[in-house]
Amino acid sequence: MTRIRISRVLAQGEDGQSVTISGWVRSKRVSKNFAFLVINDGSSQTDIQCIIDADKPFYDDLGRANTGASVRIDGVLKESPGKGQAWEVQVDKLEVVGESGDGYPLQKKGHSMEFLREIAHIRGRSNTFGAVYRVRNQLAMMVHEFFQSRGFQWAHTPILTASDCEGAGEMFQVTTLDLKNLPKTKSGDIDYTQDFFGKATNLTVSGQLNGEALALSLGDIYTFGPTFRAENSNTTRHLAEFWMVEPEMAFANLHDNSILAEEFLRFMFTQIAERCEEELSFLGKHFKNMSSEQIRELGAHSFGRISYSDAIKELESASTKFEFPVEWGIDLQTEHEKYLSEEVFKKPVIVTDYPKDIKAFYMKLNGDDKTVAAMDVLVPRIGEIIGGSQREDRYDVLKARMEAHDIPVDEMRWYLELRKYGGCPHAGFGLGFERLVQYVTGMGNIRDVIPFPRVPQSIDF
Ligand code: 4AD
Ligand code: MG
Repeated sequence: MTRIRISRVLAQGEDGQSVTISGWVRSKRVSKNFAFLVINDGSSQTDIQCIIDADKPFYDDLGRANTGASVRIDGVLKESPGKGQAWEVQVDKLEVVGESGDGYPLQKKGHSMEFLREIAHIRGRSNTFGAVYRVRNQLAMMVHEFFQSRGFQWAHTPILTASDCEGAGEMFQVTTLDLKNLPKTKSGDIDYTQDFFGKATNLTVSGQLNGEALALSLGDIYTFGPTFRAENSNTTRHLAEFWMVEPEMAFANLHDNSILAEEFLRFMFTQIAERCEEELSFLGKHFKNMSSEQIRELGAHSFGRISYSDAIKELESASTKFEFPVEWGIDLQTEHEKYLSEEVFKKPVIVTDYPKDIKAFYMKLNGDDKTVAAMDVLVPRIGEIIGGSQREDRYDVLKARMEAHDIPVDEMRWYLELRKYGGCPHAGFGLGFERLVQYVTGMGNIRDVIPFPRVPQSIDF
């Protein structure tokens, strides 16, 4: 008999059906006449309760079926008389596939999130992390659904690159050189010509620049893959390795871009509320998260919109509330972003037209010569979840901006050439996928929405 997943039992199970269920023991209760084993197999928030009569020949094996052990159960599905569960299994055969040795770290008592982070290899079996990972899986599939249904093509951009897309110098360097004995040039710099790629090579901080080239060939594309930032920040919303969704549209401006971002997020909210109702209701109860009803509501309403300059006025009028001083020209801090979305708009808000000096070189310079056609989407509790812009499509203006930002124009000639050979207005954005998962699941720390978080001092597992 092949195994059936618990999710399938819940969706299509029939009274009296013979089933094989394989999973991990959550708890066990043994009494004189029968025993209960509660099993979860990771496919569902719901556990299956298995009932074993004491006259079964394998009753003694129950001793080995401790919390955390993997088991295979053959039995018959019965509609459960008990409250709060639809199905239980009357067990005919129990096989302990893998015992759970002494010191199994995941016990019934509530563990702290810090402790669970220390057992990242096991925490996926807890109710909380099972829920978060299943929500993550659904959101990831919905990214593809949304863009594919609109004719965007999924484009694969490289992870190894020589360029620094954001120009913030937050790159991990990659080398095949012997770090203990680095070759030097005459002037004392590292001699990368002896390296495999013959050049300083980094892990990408964003797929955007390559994404632009592909949008200018395929029309509308999106990337979805891991990106890396060597920022040594210990916050609840930064990772050194995170997944980014980056759509890029040819023949599009900032307005088109903001509409795409809003429609994308609203689709994600509406659909996840439908598809992960059980997970979201569990998380809502235990983490004071939004209920699935509230998440669905988010998708039903339009987002707020405000220019950076007007946002600064709003913030100035509340400046006593902030740690960081507010004036035109500052980069918005998390506290400012939260205030705008939580207090001023009380919903997600799109801020546009930021000062050119705080944004990346590739953003289109506005007519005022002071601001760029940038946009950030801010959501309550998290702050920035999306960053994007219309791209500078004028060859000369872009070249001047690159020079002003010390971007090596020669090396980036290919990027400039996109403005020389059939360039056009184009725009795109990047969604921090973990920040979306964090927002939807209510997790306080971004380390708890990716199975194996990469942050300073966390590279084990
Ligand atoms: O605002 P960012 O830096 O924009 C870009 O990288 C553009 N190239 C995107 C584009 O236009 N194609 O990053 C985009 C988003 C942020 O809004 C944030 O949600 C997320 O990526 N992000 C991070 N998420 C987790 N950890 C970090 N260290 C992050 N840095 C950015
Ligand atoms: Mg940003």
